[in-house]
Amino acid sequence: MAFTSLPGGTWTLGDLTVTRFGYGAMQLAGPGVMGPPADHDGALAVLREAVELGITHIDTADAYGPHVTNQLIREALHPYPDSLRIVTKVGANRDQQGGWPPARDPESLRRSVHRNLENLGSDVLDLVNLRLGNAEGPQSGSVAEALETLVELQQQGLIRHLGVSNATPEQVAEAQTIAPIVCVQNMYNLAYRQDDELIDALANQGIAYVPFFPLGGFSPLQSSALSTVAARLDATPMSVALAWLLQRSANILLIPGTSSVPHLRENIAGAGLSLSDDDLAELDKIGR
Ligand SMILES: NC(=O)c1ccc[n+]([C@@H]2O[C@H](COP(=O)([O-])OP(=O)(O)OC[C@H]3O[C@@H](n4cnc5c(N)ncnc54)[C@H](OP(=O)(O)O)[C@@H]3O)[C@@H](O)[C@H]2O)c1
Repeated sequence: MAFTSLPGGTWTLGDLTVTRFGYGAMQLAGPGVMGPPADHDGALAVLREAVELGITHIDTADAYGPHVTNQLIREALHPYPDSLRIVTKVGANRDQQGGWPPARDPESLRRSVHRNLENLGSDVLDLVNLRLGNAEGPQSGSVAEALETLVELQQQGLIRHLGVSNATPEQVAEAQTIAPIVCVQNMYNLAYRQDDELIDALANQGIAYVPFFPLGGFSPLQSSALSTVAARLDATPMSVALAWLLQRSANILLIPGTSSVPHLRENIAGAGLSLSDDDLAELDKIGR
């Protein structure tokens, strides 16, 4: 049964409206985000349930698997509902060891956009994030050549909107001189608050901020303050972490990942938790 409305309401990316509560599909691929999932049908069930529950924003990349996550999305959901927006990213490949080597030269980016289109079974990609930096995080350097390549593909009608990911504030500013940027997808959560200023600056410009690893990623968030607030509210730490993000700023869109239908439902229900000023003050200390 669908939730009547998802916590957080909606946000508009360019001209595309999405639910602020989205779904991150990365961990549907096998261990280390390589190869097929242990439970193929279970992965399809999570994707179908996400859409069934009203989520209209799915985050992916053709590097997940590689190709596996996009192929699962296509198998589960194609032909896609009109309201569904699939956001993908380009700029990294996979190596034999499961590493994520940068692949931001023009030829690699063109190939990656075409692979995303093929594996998703789409004629046009709703939103493509240019993934910058490396596995250690954002690294300084010009985005011009890579972003200009994506702008060419956008002009060819293969991409609707552009964003950047794993980016420094300077790279976000540079990107905005080249093309309209509708979102920034960087690592951020209750315990990792590097982008506080960037989030506020983007909010003032009406640009979305999409935190990756909202629940801590491969190492779940752990903090005694988080556990204390969760216990007081009779909620799970995951619920509190998601509710905090939704309350942190109206331009934050959630893409928590899960390979479990019960966790998906629990996360949607939990993100609607209302945190008091006292709760927020206590939680605010975690990542400061
Ligand atoms: N731009 C980038 O460079 C970049 C990098 C990383 C990720 N991303 C995007 O960000 C999305 C989110 O990241 P993520 O999935 O790695 O990390 P996450 O959302 O922070 O956490 C996902 C982990 O939390 C667990 N989990 C979720 N709900 C739970 C619950 N209710 N109870 C207990 N455990 C729960 C999941 O395990 P279960 O499967 O057992 O629920 C999974 O291991 C990805 O899907 C991807 O699309 C982008």
